[in-house]
Amino acid sequence: MAASRSTQTRGAILTVTPNPAIDVSTATQAVTPEHKLRCTDVRRDPGGGGINVARVLTRFGARCTALYPAGPILGRLLRELLDREGVPNIALDIAEETRESFTVLERASGREFRFVLPGPQLEPGEWQACIDFVDRHAAPLDFVVGSGSLPAGVPDDFFARLARAARERGARLVLDTSGPPLAAALEEGIYLVKPNLRELRELTGEALETEDDWTHAAQALVHAGRAELVALSLGHRGALLAAREQCLRAPALPVEIASTVGAGDSFVAAMLWRLASGSPLVEALAWGVAGGTAALLAPGTRLAFEDDTRRLAGQVQVCALPER
Ligand SMILES: Nc1ncnc2c1ncn2[C@@H]1O[C@H](COP(=O)(O)OP(=O)(O)OP(=O)(O)O)[C@@H](O)[C@H]1O
Ligand SMILES: [Mg+2]
Repeated sequence: MAASRSTQTRGAILTVTPNPAIDVSTATQAVTPEHKLRCTDVRRDPGGGGINVARVLTRFGARCTALYPAGPILGRLLRELLDREGVPNIALDIAEETRESFTVLERASGREFRFVLPGPQLEPGEWQACIDFVDRHAAPLDFVVGSGSLPAGVPDDFFARLARAARERGARLVLDTSGPPLAAALEEGIYLVKPNLRELRELTGEALETEDDWTHAAQALVHAGRAELVALSLGHRGALLAAREQCLRAPALPVEIASTVGAGDSFVAAMLWRLASGSPLVEALAWGVAGGTAALLAPGTRLAFEDDTRRLAGQVQVCALPER
């Protein structure tokens, strides 16, 4: 709808993807050993957490730039693919090669096989250049999004450093990562974190079996000052959003799933798009779930489109959970 395109975020969003990828997706009748598997419908998409978030935000009309380290050959391809999609992007040169990921849809079963190839090893000066870029960023920045895994050579406190640099620039950090880099950034204190259940279990070391457990764990992070907002995405069970004053819950929408690739990234982008526009948390959660759902509609790394997301957001039933 025209209204959303003219809704401008107040400032700019920078996404930082330490370990971007060229996402190759294709389809074959059946995945079997030894024989050549003839593939069709090949796509090459720019990929990696923050790159995906920037692609979706750009479609939605946000002012967003993707920052990423780029290897000599595939890094150039990544840049070309982003340029073609009209995603403003900044590639910081690195010596080793950008990684590829490879997704195969098996037509006979509808199953997807996802192969993630190893990424490059970064030198200290190479990852530091990402932090320095934020440190030296002259124009106003509202949000910095850190998303995805860390390549070899990058210290676990990379996103914590990014959070510090963002804060010093008056920007808020949105984070979607896992393991020790997630824990270190939360120690620093950030604006929004979007774990899934597996990532939250790993972070807390708890089994988190019931909805009560999930709510409690998410709110505990908020009350400990680790994050202002905790958006816990729950796959086919939807999502919940914990804030200081409230906890909201939205069930998933029933849709036919073509691919779950990029659901988490589309969730983050759609939620941030509403938050950056000053919308209430209820709406931000509805858009997050809608964005994640919109990403399921097409195979491969298509990610969410705005018209699908807007339509689906109207169907998401958000309710308030009692405070713990
Ligand atoms: N199987 C599903 N059925 C319905 N909705 C889903 C399903 N999977 C994902 N979603 C929607 O997408 C959102 C994000 O998905 P999910 O929780 O799987 O993120 P994630 O684990 O971070 O995914 P990713 O693999 O992209 O990192 C969910 O909150 C939900 O709204
Ligand atoms: Mg995820």
